[in-house]
Amino acid sequence: MREKVLVTRKLPGSMAEGLRSSFEVVLNPHDRNLTRGELFRMAEGCAGMISLLSDTLDREFIESHPRLKVIANCAVGYNNIDLHAAAERGIVVTNTPGVLTETTADLAWALILALGRRVVESDRYTREGRFGGWAPELFLGTDIYGKTLGIVGLGRIGAAVARRAAGFSMKLIYHSRSRKPELEKALGAGYRELDSLLAEADFISLHTPLDPGTRHLLDRRRISLMKPGSFLINTSRGPLVDEGALVEALASGKLAGAGLDVYENEPELHPGLAGLPNTVLLPHIGSASTETRVKMARMAAENLTAVLTGRTPPNPVPLPE
Ligand code: DGY
Repeated sequence: MREKVLVTRKLPGSMAEGLRSSFEVVLNPHDRNLTRGELFRMAEGCAGMISLLSDTLDREFIESHPRLKVIANCAVGYNNIDLHAAAERGIVVTNTPGVLTETTADLAWALILALGRRVVESDRYTREGRFGGWAPELFLGTDIYGKTLGIVGLGRIGAAVARRAAGFSMKLIYHSRSRKPELEKALGAGYRELDSLLAEADFISLHTPLDPGTRHLLDRRRISLMKPGSFLINTSRGPLVDEGALVEALASGKLAGAGLDVYENEPELHPGLAGLPNTVLLPHIGSASTETRVKMARMAAENLTAVLTGRTPPNPVPLPE
C-alpha cells in the first residue's frame, strides 16, 4: 500500500505530480493556507508532509499524528515546528538551505535601496499625478555608497548580503554568535558586539534564525541604542524585533526607516506600522523568485521521499540539544 503524504499548499513547479508516482498525495485544494482544523484533519494517517513556515506544527499537532515519519518544511527556517516534540516521536524534520540564499540577499538589498532613496514614496507620488517637474528638494534621500552596513548574523544569507556591499563601497561590520575570521578577511568586515554595531551602522540587516535565544533580539533597549537616522532591514523573522518599540522609534524620527519582509505576529502588522511613510512593507517574499521557489519545492519533495524510502534525507535539521 502506498504511503499517504500531505502537501499543505500548492507549490510552484511539478513537485506534487512527481510525488504521485510513489505516494498517495493529499493536496490542499484551496488557494490559501490551511486553517488549523483543516491541517489536523488532512494530515490524518499521513506518513509525511511538505509544510510551509506558516503551518504551526506544535506538540499538539505532532502528538495527534502518530503515523508521521517526516516533516519536510519548504523553507530554510523551521521555527514553526516543535523540534523537541518531533525528535521524541522519531520524526525527521528537513529544510531547504542554500537555494534561497542569493534570492533573499537580493531582496534585502531591494529594501536597502528602496529605503535610502525613498523609491516607494516617490513611485506613489508620481502615480498620483503629483509630479510637477524637477525640484531641488524633491524626495531627498540618503546615500548608500560609503555608508556603514551592519549585518547581524553572518550565516549564508548574511554573508551574501555583505558581499553585495562591496559594489557600494560600504564599510562592513557584523555581529554573529561566533566570530568568522575567514569570512571577516574575505569580506573586509569588522566584528562588533551587538550593542556597538547598533550604535555605529547606518543600515542594519538582520539574518539570524529565530529561536528562544533570539526572540526580541532587538528589544526596546537595543532599538534605543541604534544610531539616530539609521535604517533597519528585516528579511529573517519578525519576532527578532519588538515591533511595538520599532513603531515608536520610527514615529518619533529616531530611526529614519525600516524595510520589513517579516512581522512579529505575521501576517498581522503592529498598529501604526502601515501608516508610517518611512517604512517599506513586503509580504514575506524573501525567497519569492520562480527559480528559487521551484528549487525549494523540489528539495522538500526529495527530502520527504528519501525518508519514506529508507534513505538519509539530504537536508535534515539537526536535533535540538
Ligand atoms: C525561509 O525559507 O525561511 C524563508 O523565510 C522563506 O521565504
